[in-house]
Parts: sequence; C-alpha cells; structure tokens
Amino acid sequence: MKKICVVGTGYVGLVTGTCFADMGNHVTCLDVDPVRIDHLNQGKMPIYEPGLEQTVNQNVRAGRLFFTTDYAAALAEAEFAFIAVGTPSGNDGEADLQYVRAAAEAIADIVDHPIIVINKSTVPVGTGDWVADVIQRRRNGKPLEFSVVSNPEFLREGSAVSDFMSPDRVVLGSLEREAAEKVAELYRPLRCTVMITDLRTAEMIKYASNAFLATRISFINEIANMCEELGADVREVALGMGYDKRIGHAFLDAGLGWGGSCFPKDVKALEHMAVLHGTQPQLLQAVMEINRNQRRRAVMKLRKALGNLNETTIGVLGLSFKPNTDDIREAAAIEIIHLLQNEGAHVRAYDPQAMENASKVMHQTVLCENPYEVAEGADALILVTEWNEFKQLDFTHLKEIMKRPVILDGRNLWDPETIRGFGFTYMGIGRGNGGLKDFE
Ligand SMILES: NC(=O)c1ccc[n+]([C@@H]2O[C@H](COP(=O)([O-])OP(=O)(O)OC[C@H]3O[C@@H](n4cnc5c(N)ncnc54)[C@H](O)[C@@H]3O)[C@@H](O)[C@H]2O)c1
Repeated sequence: MKKICVVGTGYVGLVTGTCFADMGNHVTCLDVDPVRIDHLNQGKMPIYEPGLEQTVNQNVRAGRLFFTTDYAAALAEAEFAFIAVGTPSGNDGEADLQYVRAAAEAIADIVDHPIIVINKSTVPVGTGDWVADVIQRRRNGKPLEFSVVSNPEFLREGSAVSDFMSPDRVVLGSLEREAAEKVAELYRPLRCTVMITDLRTAEMIKYASNAFLATRISFINEIANMCEELGADVREVALGMGYDKRIGHAFLDAGLGWGGSCFPKDVKALEHMAVLHGTQPQLLQAVMEINRNQRRRAVMKLRKALGNLNETTIGVLGLSFKPNTDDIREAAAIEIIHLLQNEGAHVRAYDPQAMENASKVMHQTVLCENPYEVAEGADALILVTEWNEFKQLDFTHLKEIMKRPVILDGRNLWDPETIRGFGFTYMGIGRGNGGLKDFE
C-alpha cells in the first residue's frame, strides 16, 4: 500500500485516484472546488463516467479513498503527488499552465518529506523541467528531496475507468530513472506495458498521439466530402481501408468532426509549440481547418435542404462531444447550434446525459426531455452525438410530429434506405448521393 495524493478531481484526477485506491493504495484526492469535494464526500459524482460511482463508493467504504480541499491533509506522508488539473487553451492556443503552477507551488509550500511529483495533466514539452524549477524557486533555498515524473494519461471519457485499468501502455518520463521505476511499481497490478523515457519525450508522446488521432478523423472527413461529390460511400471506404493491418479501423468514422476537452486544445497547443520553435505545422493546421469546415458544411446542408434557415426550427439530437459522457467542451453541437442561431434558426435539443451542463451555457436553445419533444414542429433534425438510445427511434411518429421530414445524420448512425423508407429526406456524411448532391 502506497500513500498517494491526487491534485484535481476532474475526469482524469478522480478516475486516477479511484483506480489507485481500488488497487489497494491509500489515496487522498484534492480539489480547490469545495462544492465538488462536498458532493464527493456525500457520494455524489461531479461527472458522469460509467462504473465510476460504484468504484468510488466501494473504496470510500473500504477506507482507502478520501476527498479534501486541504493540501496539508492530502499531502501528509504522501510518497506520490499526481497533478491532474486542467490545462485549457490560453489566448494564443498555448496550454494555460496556471493551475499546474498553483498545484506545484502548493506542494512546494507544504511538503517537507521526500516526494515524487507526477504530471498527469497534458502539458507542453518542457513542462516537467519547468515544474521542477517552480518547486525549487518556491522553496527559496529550503531543501526538499523531490523528483518530477511525466505520466501522460490516455484514458477516454465515456470509458475512463476501464481504460485506466487496462491501458495499452503506461508512459513514464523522468530524468531520474529510479523515480520513474517507483511510479511504474504503482501500475504493476495492471500488468501492462510500461515505457520509460526522458521527460520531454513522454510529454511529446501524449501530444503526438492526440494529434495523430485527430488527423485520422480529419482525413476520413476529407475523404467523406469527396465521396459525396463522387458518389462513393465513406463508411464502406473506411471499412475497406481498415482491413489493411497497416491502417486498422479505429478513428476512421466520418462525421461532424472531433471535439471534447482534449483534441482541440492539444492540437492547438502542439501547433503553438511548433510555431514557437520555428517549425511549420502545416498538417496540424489543415487538420484543424478540416474540422471547422465539417461543422460549417453540416449547416450548409441544412440550408440547402430547407432553402433558408431563418425562422426555421431545427432539432438537435445529442450535445455531448461523444456518447457516454456529459462533457460538452468543444462539442460539435455547440458550434453547430451557434451557427444555426446566427442564421436565425430556433434550436431545440436533447441529450441523455449533458442537459445539466448544456443548461449552463445554451441559454437560447430550448432544452427538451426526449427526442420526440425535440422533433415536435421541427423543420429538420440533426443527429450530432451517436448515443445508443438514438439508434432505434420511432421514425413513423417522428415523421408525424415534424413540420418537414428532413434528417441530417451527422454520425452516419442510421441506414439511409430505411430512413428514406419512412418518407424522410435523409442526408448523411459522405454517403454517396445521400449527401449534398440531393439538393443541387
Ligand atoms: N478529460 C480527458 O479525457 C483527458 C484525457 C487525458 C488527459 N487529460 C488531461 O488531464 C488534465 C485534466 O483534465 P480533466 O478533463 O480531468 O480536467 P477537469 O477540468 O475535468 O478537472 C480539473 C480539476 O482540477 C481542479 N483544480 C484546478 N486547479 C487546481 C488546484 N490548483 N488544486 C487542486 N485542484 C485544482 C478543478 O477544480 C477541476 O476539478 C488536462 O491536462 C487534460 O488535458 C484529460
């Protein structure tokens, strides 16, 4: 049993702390947000993540998992301090490190015993050295035995607990091998591949991985747009490509583009790093531009189908940036709704998990209780997030209650011929003549 402190109780921090507790360690999770900590202490989850609530409660009951706002209590005797605070985009697209700095300074102020500080937040290359420097300066000559290890996290929202428990690999970067090996020991129960590198390489592995996945999605979206013009079906194209072992099937789903709390800010931050250091990240810039266009193109399809969007009512199915999460950060829905409202459309929307988050930011959007309320009187429906519960809708009923039977399936969830069979005009993404061509 090791004593661990996790700073930040968001998607990464809470899952990390909970999973390490589940492996038998004594874990204290700390956050500066007292409401969040109060809720956690009452057994209420601040985020939706499958399997999380049960695992948290089990480990709290077992006396291995604690929540506090008090740094001194959280760090007392801790051998490991994981920093898992947010690193949002700053003004220029660079990662904003103010929360990482605050966490590092708090550790420097409080700890007087040997400690390993582990960066789990996604941070620009070089941040590990910077964190060591921040701690050193803050100590102002007062000695502290500490090491910094970079341990980027690769979990996905929506399957965070199972991803953490069965990682494809654990990456540890440090200038001190012994410290990295001690962190590797924490992961030993997972029996996964552990790769030890230097600090900067570990930090770059995280950015390069996210940028590559975003690139795959933008690539297939560019192909999808060509498919629409050329009469091919991108779903089959992707399938045919994916059978090639050098390519594989993952991250080749054409749709409305990538979003969420990671890809957008990480691709931007990597581009920023590249420009700052004099390299030309042309591919990353194109990847981002294709993603923006994918949202605009969806609105253009609706405009073409309806003639004009002014005073139309558009129903939006799905608000979270992907299924199985309540996270709406940089979600395609937000941008698309914004573009629709700019053109004078009235928007009604529903999401199975993200309504609470949506109600905080979508003040001009009518938030509905279910897909049928969304469709009531709508001129068109757009499916933005492919939640399971949208797979089997009552299309006969939808057709009856909609003003005009137009569907834009932004995630290619439905079979075009089936939907057309119910009397709808169906548009997908990259599905031959099911795309823009119908209206030209
Ligand atoms: N969300 C993901 O899927 C994911 C996946 C891999 C990596 N990451 C990276 O992990 C990091 C955290 O992401 P997240 O989605 O968990 O963030 P989040 O916004 O959900 O949570 C961050 C938490 O940190 C807390 N916090 C901020 N400053 C603090 C401080 N000084 N002391 C204590 N707590 C503080 C906030 O109150 C918040 O609860 C980011 O760098 C992100 O890029 C996220």
